[in-house]
Amino acid sequence: MEVIIVPDARAGGEVIANGIADLLWRKPDALLGVATGSTPLPIYEALIAKVQGGSLDASRARVAQLDEYVGLPAGHPESYRSTVLRQVVEPLGLSEDAFLGPDGSAQDVQAACTAYDRALAAAGGVDLQILGIGTDGHIGFNEPCSSLASRTRIKTLTEQTRIDNARFFDNDIDQVPHHVITQGIGTILEARHLVLLATGEGKADAVAATVEGPVAALIPASALQLHPHATVVVDEAAASKLKLADYFRHTYANKPSWQGL
Ligand code: PGA
Repeated sequence: MEVIIVPDARAGGEVIANGIADLLWRKPDALLGVATGSTPLPIYEALIAKVQGGSLDASRARVAQLDEYVGLPAGHPESYRSTVLRQVVEPLGLSEDAFLGPDGSAQDVQAACTAYDRALAAAGGVDLQILGIGTDGHIGFNEPCSSLASRTRIKTLTEQTRIDNARFFDNDIDQVPHHVITQGIGTILEARHLVLLATGEGKADAVAATVEGPVAALIPASALQLHPHATVVVDEAAASKLKLADYFRHTYANKPSWQGL
């Protein structure tokens, strides 16, 4: 696992967007796994700026969703499908055909989950998966004690996650669904490259447990330790509880430039 400590969220977004630009240069039709929430926004802003500035051609890129609420009506502005279309797909100038996601309004949720795992595999698998992290260490919507081998499935959100997400629903927790579809941890680990961005002091404990703690279902993000190509990008605040912070800084400062992200 590589840990990159950056001064702030904007710099984190830039580092990851540069890595995505390199990937799209090597593989123009790469499948990018995208996360929602506040943290990844600087990545998308940096990426969109590159495309709009003409330094990056993302016209053949494909985008896959990480998770979704269950039960919101199709087209609800806070469904993750609507959010990803608004924040990533449309500003990159991609069409909906370039976008893969689970059907959160399906009658048969389990069938929708299985179908999504199949669709990801049929698309050739995710090349680079962007991840945020919850204050409880969740990735996607894999809450603590999710199986480290889990596949895409329905999960029940913790009260804390519903409280955290109420800001997207007029600060009204009653509007936040209890259930979600999320790529499982086993599904996420199949992506060729995992890139987790964490910013702010509120994430410092979860980051320390993820990077320096044991691999444990209690901290779902710790499963990144099992992946051969995992990158954790953190700002100074989110890095503040890392015992090996100086080592990570030293390693990154001396990284051979040919290695890329
Ligand atoms: P946030 O959410 O980026 O809005 O903090 C992260 C997550 O819950 O995965």
